[in-house]
Parts: sequence; structure tokens; C-alpha cells
Amino acid sequence: MECSFQFLKLCHIETRRRLLVLGVVAVTYLLFQWLLLPYENALRSLLPQSQGPKQVTGSFLAVHSSTKSVMVRNPLTVNSSDSIYRSRFGGVDKYAHNSSRGGEIARDNEPKEMEARYDFPEPIVLSKDEISTENTLEENTTLTAKNSEGVKTAFLSSPLILPAAASLIKGTDLNYLVFNASSSASLESDVMTMKNSSVTTITSPGKKKMRCNMPPKSITSIHEMNHILVRHHAKARAMRPRWSSVRDQDILAVKSQIEHPPVAKNDRELYAPLFRNVSMFKRSYELMERTLKVYIYKEGNKPIFHQPILKGLYASEGWFMKLMEGNRRFVVKDPQKAHLFYMPFSSRMLEFTLYVRNSHNRTNLRQYLKEYSETIAAKYPYWNRTDGADHFLVACHDWAPYETRHHMERCIKALCNADVTQGFKIGRDVSLPETYVRSARNPLRDLGGKPASERQALAFYAGNMHGYLRPILLKYWKNKDPDMKIFGPMPPGVSSKMNYIEHMKSSKYCICPKGYEVNSPRVVEAIFYECIPVIISDNFVPPFFEVLDWRAFSLILAEKDIPNLKDILLSIPEEKYLQMQLSVRKVQKHFVWHPKPIKYDLFHMTLHSIWYNRVFQIKLR
Ligand SMILES: *[C@@H]1O[C@H](CO)[C@@H](O)[C@H](O)[C@H]1NC(C)=O
Ligand SMILES: *[C@@H]1O[C@H](CO)[C@@H](O)[C@H](O)[C@H]1NC(C)=O
Ligand SMILES: *[C@@H]1O[C@H](CO)[C@@H](O)[C@H](O)[C@H]1NC(C)=O
Ligand SMILES: *[C@@H]1O[C@H](CO)[C@@H](O)[C@H](O)[C@H]1NC(C)=O
Ligand SMILES: *[C@@H]1O[C@H](CO)[C@@H](O)[C@H](O)[C@H]1NC(C)=O
Ligand SMILES: *[C@@H]1O[C@H](CO)[C@@H](O)[C@H](O)[C@H]1NC(C)=O
Ligand SMILES: *[C@@H]1O[C@H](CO)[C@@H](O)[C@H](O)[C@H]1NC(C)=O
Ligand SMILES: *[C@@H]1O[C@H](CO)[C@@H](O)[C@H](O)[C@H]1NC(C)=O
Repeated sequence: MECSFQFLKLCHIETRRRLLVLGVVAVTYLLFQWLLLPYENALRSLLPQSQGPKQVTGSFLAVHSSTKSVMVRNPLTVNSSDSIYRSRFGGVDKYAHNSSRGGEIARDNEPKEMEARYDFPEPIVLSKDEISTENTLEENTTLTAKNSEGVKTAFLSSPLILPAAASLIKGTDLNYLVFNASSSASLESDVMTMKNSSVTTITSPGKKKMRCNMPPKSITSIHEMNHILVRHHAKARAMRPRWSSVRDQDILAVKSQIEHPPVAKNDRELYAPLFRNVSMFKRSYELMERTLKVYIYKEGNKPIFHQPILKGLYASEGWFMKLMEGNRRFVVKDPQKAHLFYMPFSSRMLEFTLYVRNSHNRTNLRQYLKEYSETIAAKYPYWNRTDGADHFLVACHDWAPYETRHHMERCIKALCNADVTQGFKIGRDVSLPETYVRSARNPLRDLGGKPASERQALAFYAGNMHGYLRPILLKYWKNKDPDMKIFGPMPPGVSSKMNYIEHMKSSKYCICPKGYEVNSPRVVEAIFYECIPVIISDNFVPPFFEVLDWRAFSLILAEKDIPNLKDILLSIPEEKYLQMQLSVRKVQKHFVWHPKPIKYDLFHMTLHSIWYNRVFQIKLR
């Protein structure tokens, strides 16, 4: 058994105990009890008194320890998750009977489980909501365009690509979900628990063996993240290579140049306030262009490898893969010349292809990648030199942190699910923007928004009730205040997609609360439509954190700030708002994909952050 799960099981058992008290039978309780009895008592005595049954039936229980933080989200109750499941499919019941169609689509609705929730018996089955009004998979046209020969895989001919899929997703997206698990009474306690969660500290005495790769603790402030970044850059943490390589010397040579850059003033292409240090960024970017060589492993079969999906929620990994594999400037055929090694797989396709629906078992997905890394480690000398520290992956699916844990632990991971409690390492890993691409042919569609002076609404949010946080947001703000346009799912109707985008284009602040996972496509959407993103998602590391100064163009609030949201927004002076809105417009170009990449665009920003982190992590023999 993996040790990182040990501790989870403790919480798990504890939660189960409470559920038992509530009369819900936990089947595995007895199975595990003998195993965990000694710890269980210890843990129970450490739990604060306030952890009454009420809070457990809420949705959130945070246990922090000195060595790790485990967030256990209660799986609601068996009944409520059932009812969510039903209502989730209620609006499209006809498809549910069409096993092939409904079945395929439902894959997208598989649990957006956190690692900690992984082995809960009854995961919440919901779609990744996210305002999707179109099929989340690529249209067959665009897919085949890239893979013109012989790759008409099963999935290409699957009914999934038919327009019905789009309407299915559309229909469900607009469903009103019945979220009865959190009655308003327990919502209150959610907030209480939440408020307390940041200070609830449980010290588990000297259980070093459970440490594994769990992060030290949860991190809620950008200040803390800055601190970690500085510390990690000061102290290179990649493994000392087993033998030296002249490529490492190349990187060491540029490192000192990046650390001592010429002052970049009034650069026409770069807006200085967006960056932590524009001089360093500019220098690093130039040196990347001049120096960096990337080798792309040819190993790996389609459709999981080498087959980018360019549309939908997870499109970032697809766009990066497509543009990297098609790149001439950085890619080398001779791996001896490479500073970095790319493993071109799609975490979305991994899930789509291998996940057994409703199995709640992702072991085989991880196993698949493990075997892959073993294959390249056996075939080439590069992996073993650093245990993969000069290898990178780009993956947007929520499960990617899990799928790449342990066996790809030293690699640089560019992840949409940039959650420090799920092992995201600031300074090593790259927070990948989650871009919801609606048109693969024109990823720039609808870009832009109203000028600041014409933005009437103070705040806007619309979306499904995923996770514990959004119900809290709605509880405080839905229909409470005409300035706060806080909705649930957008009302059904043909124009709802336009409504959503129009709202973003005409609001001052766009609220981006976490869903099941920390990231949300809203962050990039807000930037797209020139609305200030207000990120409410503790433990989320915002994209390109190592180079961008998010304070310039966003607000990052703690989850406990929700009740004060309006006051916080109103407290920002007009002048400051205008400055931020200008900055949002300036940062936009760093967040868009181009079919042919251009300087400083999203492709290059992603590659740059991977490069930059490698530069600051490298160690010499
Ligand atoms: C759960 O559902 C069963 C029947 O489906 C019902 O008897 C029971 O009262 C429900 N429990 C809760 C907590 O709603
Ligand atoms: C179910 O599938 C059948 C055959 O594939 C199709 O004729 C029917 O329209 C489908 N039902 C729905 C609701 O899509
Ligand atoms: C997509 O594939 C289906 C069947 O494979 C085909 O009938 C349809 O024309 C294709 N769509 C486009 C836009 O090529
Ligand atoms: C959810 O709660 C509302 C009122 O709180 C009630 O009207 C509705 O029937 C409940 N739905 C379910 C599925 O229990
Ligand atoms: C935090 O928890 C303590 C008990 O541990 C409780 O007395 C207090 O009211 C809680 N505070 C909030 C803000 O929930
Ligand atoms: C940027 O970094 C360089 C090198 O560390 C430093 O000399 C310079 O003062 C920094 N500039 C700003 C604006 O912080
Ligand atoms: C999960 O699947 C793997 C094989 O893919 C299997 O070996 C393992 O026993 C499964 N785990 C559970 C809990 O069913
Ligand atoms: C790399 O290490 C693994 C495990 O120790 C070993 O099986 C493999 O053969 C090594 N690769 C090479 C190319 O020597």
C-alpha cells in the first residue's frame, strides 16, 4: 500500500466513524480498522472538539499536520450524491439509455476527485461544468487534420463526435443541480469549518514514514508562495546528476546571465508591471530562444501520445503538444543536444482511453505512464542521469498529478491542476493555464471586452455548484445585491453562452472560485474578456507564477473572504481598478494560443516557464 494513502485512510476512517454514527454503514471500516487502530485513536484525540458530526456532514474537513496537509472532502452522503447523479442526468435522461452515447459522454462526468477523495466509496459524479456549450472533444475534422493517416482510432469513429454530444453537454451544463446535501444550515458550518481550517493545525507526532510526497502544508496566501519560490530558487533542488553533461554547462552559463540582466526599460513588447522582474524575464526569454534545445520522445502510441486535442476544457495540453511537435526552432532530432526532454502524452486521452467508467480506480492510468517512463529509461541513458529532472510533461486533466506521482516525481510538470496540496511544487512545476478553447480553428474568437468605463456590473459569476466553495459563494451573494451578478448555472436558453461571455465582457470583476479542483477556465476567460479575475481558491498556484506578478492584474482572495467580497471589491479605488484593467489587457497576449506561435504567446510562455524552472533547479555534478 502506498504510504501517501495511509494517512488519508486515517481521515477516511475517522470520517467513516462519524458517518456510522449517523447511521450510514461504511463497509470497509471493519476491513481497515484492524490495520489502523493504533493510529486512529491518536488521530481522534488530535481532532479539535469542533469537529462535530454536523461539520462532517458538511463538505469539508481539513487536517493539517506539520509534515503534510490532507484535505478530505466528505463525499456528501450516499443519498445526496445519488440525487446529484440523478439530477445531473435528469435533463438528458433520454441519453442515459443510449449506452454508447450517454456512456461515452459520461466519462467526462466522472468524479473530479481530489487525491484525498480517491478511495471514497461514493465519489460525486458530475461533469466538469465549466460553461461548456460545445463538445469537449475535438471535432473529427480537426483531429484527423493533424493525424491524416491511419489514426482513425476507435474514438474517432465513436458517436461522441456527433452533434448530439454537444447538446448533451450543453443540456447538462445548464441543468440546475439539486444540491441538497448542504442545506443552508450546514452551509453555515461549511464556512465555519473553512474559516477555522486555516488555523486548525494537527500535529502528528513524528510520523515521518507517512511523509512521502505530500506537501508540507496548505498554502493560502500569495505571500507564502512567493516565499517558497524565492527559497527554492536560492537552493537548487533537482537531483545531482549521476554523470555530467555539457548541456548542463550551457544552462549554468546562462543562469548567471539571467541573474544579472541588463535593465529592460520601456520595452515595447513587454509591459513591465506584469512581471516579477521584467529584466530577468526578458533576458531569460532571449537566452531560451538562443540556447534551448528540446528532444521529443518518439515512443508512445496514439491516441494517448502524439495526438493533441485542441478544443474544450483540457485543450492546453493539446495545443502545447501540437505546437511543440511542430516546432523547428527548439526541437532537435539528436537527444545528445537536448537540454530538456518532452514526454508528449495527453492526460485527457489517457483518461478517455483507459479509465474504466465508474470503476473509481485509476491505477491502470498511472501504471501506463509508469511503464512508459520505464521504457524510455531503459532505452535511453537520459532519464537515469537525473531520474528525469530534465524531462517534462504538460498535462491539463485533473488527474494528472495523481497519474504522474512517484514515477515521474522529479520531472518538471506543467499542470492545470496546480494544487500545492496535491504535490505541485512551486519552483519546479509550472502552473499551466486552463484555456477553454471553443474553436480549434480560431482560438482567438470573441477576444476582448468593453472598455472599463462601460463595465456596469461590479462582479459576475455563473456556473455549476461543483465543490464545497461555490455553494458558499451563492449563499452569500446570489440575489443579494444588484451589483453582484452571482448566478448558479446560467438559465437555460439558446443565448446562454453569449450571456456568459457578454457578462464577462461587461463586468468589472469576474469571480473565479474553485470547483472540485483548484483551477478554473474562468481565470483565463476573464483575461480573455478583459475582466479582472478574482481568484478564490486556496492552495492554487496561478499560471506562470515564477515570472508573472499576479497582483498587477488579479485579486487573489482567501476562501474565508467570501462574506466580505463586495466590501473588498468596493475598497479598490477607481484609479487602481483602471490600472489593473489596463494590465489585464496587457497580459492577454501571454494567454492566447496561435496556430503559428508568436513571441511571448501562451506556447512560448509555457515553454519558457519550464525552461526557467530548469535553469533555477539545476545542479552540477
Ligand atoms: C437515504 O435513502 C434511503 C432510501 O433511498 C432513505 O430511507 C434514507 O432515509 C435516506 N437517508 C438520508 C440521510 O436521506
Ligand atoms: C439512441 O441511439 C439510437 C441509435 O443509435 C438513436 O436512433 C436514438 O436517436 C438515440 N436516442 C437519443 C435520445 O439520442
Ligand atoms: C465527422 O465524422 C462523421 C462520421 O465519421 C462524418 O459523417 C462527418 O462528416 C465528419 N464531420 C466532418 C465535419 O468532417
Ligand atoms: C432539495 O431541497 C428542496 C428544498 O430545500 C426541496 O424542495 C427538494 O425537493 C429537495 N430535492 C431533493 C432531491 O431532495
Ligand atoms: C473556530 O473553532 C473554534 C473551536 O475550535 C470555535 O469556538 C470558533 O467559533 C470557530 N471560529 C470560526 C470562525 O468558525
Ligand atoms: C531584477 O533582478 C535583477 C537581478 O536580480 C536586479 O538587479 C533588479 O534590481 C531587479 N529589478 C527589479 C525591478 O526588481
Ligand atoms: C484497480 O485496478 C488495478 C488494475 O488496473 C487492480 O490491480 C486493482 O486491484 C484495482 N484496485 C481496486 C481497489 O479495485
Ligand atoms: C536505468 O535504470 C533502470 C532502473 O535502475 C534500469 O532498469 C535501466 O536499465 C537503466 N537504463 C539504462 C539505459 O541503463
